[in-house]
Order: sequence, then C-alpha cells, then structure tokens
Amino acid sequence: MRLIASADESWGIGLDGDLLLSTRADMAHLRELTMGHVLLMGGRTFRSLPNGALPGRVNVVLTRTKLYATPGEGCIGRLRIAHSPEEALAILAEHPSKEHFLFGGGEIYRLFLQYCTRADITRYAPRPGDSSRRADTFMPRLDLPDGWALTGKSPMMEEDGLQFCFESWEYNKS
Ligand SMILES: NC(=O)c1ccc[n+]([C@@H]2O[C@H](COP(=O)([O-])OP(=O)(O)OC[C@H]3O[C@@H](n4cnc5c(N)ncnc54)[C@H](OP(=O)(O)O)[C@@H]3O)[C@@H](O)[C@H]2O)c1
Repeated sequence: MRLIASADESWGIGLDGDLLLSTRADMAHLRELTMGHVLLMGGRTFRSLPNGALPGRVNVVLTRTKLYATPGEGCIGRLRIAHSPEEALAILAEHPSKEHFLFGGGEIYRLFLQYCTRADITRYAPRPGDSSRRADTFMPRLDLPDGWALTGKSPMMEEDGLQFCFESWEYNKS
C-alpha cells in the first residue's frame, strides 16, 4: 500500500475536519498519482470531500456507520463501504492490478501504516511567525529509526505564499 498525505513540519495533516494546508499544485499532484487506482479512507475524511467520492478512482470508505450500505452491498458506482479493517483489505484485494493508496485521515493512517511500503508526502514549510494554523490531526511520523527513509525530494515550490515540496519515502524492513 502507498500512503499519500500532505503534512506540515510536525506531521500535522488536519484542522477542524479539513485539510491543514493545501494548494492547487498539491491537489493536481494527488490527482495525477491516484487517478485510476484505489483510495482507502476513513469516514471522517470521506465526509470532508466537497463532492463525495473522487472520480476515476475506487473510493473505499471505512466506517462504523451502517447508514451508507451493508457489508457486501457497499458498491455504489465508485464508492465501496467497509465496516472493518479486514473488510477494507478484502475490497483492496479485489483490485490487484491497481495501486492501493492510503488516503487518510489520522486514524486510518495509524490503522494501515503497517501495510505501507511507500509514502508520498507533500511537505509544507513552516511560515515564520504564523501560529494560526496548528493542526488538530496528525499522521504517524516516518522520520523515526524504524525502517522508513526519505528517498527523494522535489525542489521547493511556492503557491499563495505557501512553500512546499514533494517527498518520497520508502520502508525497508532490514
Ligand atoms: N493532509 C492530508 O493529507 C489529509 C488526508 C486525509 C484527511 N486529512 C484530514 O484528517 C482529518 C480526518 O482524520 P481523522 O483521524 O479525524 O478521521 P479519519 O481517519 O478520516 O476517519 C476516522 C473514521 O474512520 C472510521 N473508522 C476508524 N476505525 C474504524 C474501524 N476499526 N472500523 C470501522 N470504521 C472505522 C470511523 O468512521 P465513521 O465516523 O464514519 O464511523 C472513524 O470516525 C480531517 O481534518 C481531514 O481533512 C488530511
């Protein structure tokens, strides 16, 4: 599985149920990487999407809410509902030829990080003197000595006063 996220320097990802930071370039990058593939996300992240399931991708949503659909009947077009992590993994296994992206948020990153071997992080640089956007949701840190390594980094870019770059991370057990 391949984790995809945007994060600040403290691995903060969300605030008030929305993305902590985002740019058009980041959204385009996310779309380009994930188009045609499978996204696994939590119920809260799904409910934060302004237009529901993302087009051109299989959206697997892990939720305890039974309102969406019953297990096994959870296929409404591109939306698939899972009511347990095992059920989510079984849906992913139905798509062996597609890439499986771990789409967030915090709870879902923590649950499924163990299955990830790659991560694409859009890293936002701190803005000096700006304490207004402190995250309330975080992803697990990858910069600990536990097998994850930063293997690539784009040049810094800037959009609307935000500086960011695209980082590639890989997990090696040994
Ligand atoms: N920066 C980024 O790249 C990025 C990416 C994604 C999300 N985010 C942000 O992260 C925040 C959301 O993250 P979050 O941690 O609050 O929520 P989340 O991980 O998106 O979703 C949590 C939800 O997943 C479901 N869930 C969790 N464990 C489950 C289990 N064992 N069985 C069944 N369902 C389970 C529940 O859904 P129900 O509530 O439906 O029962 C739970 O409320 C938002 O601010 C969002 O914008 C940021």
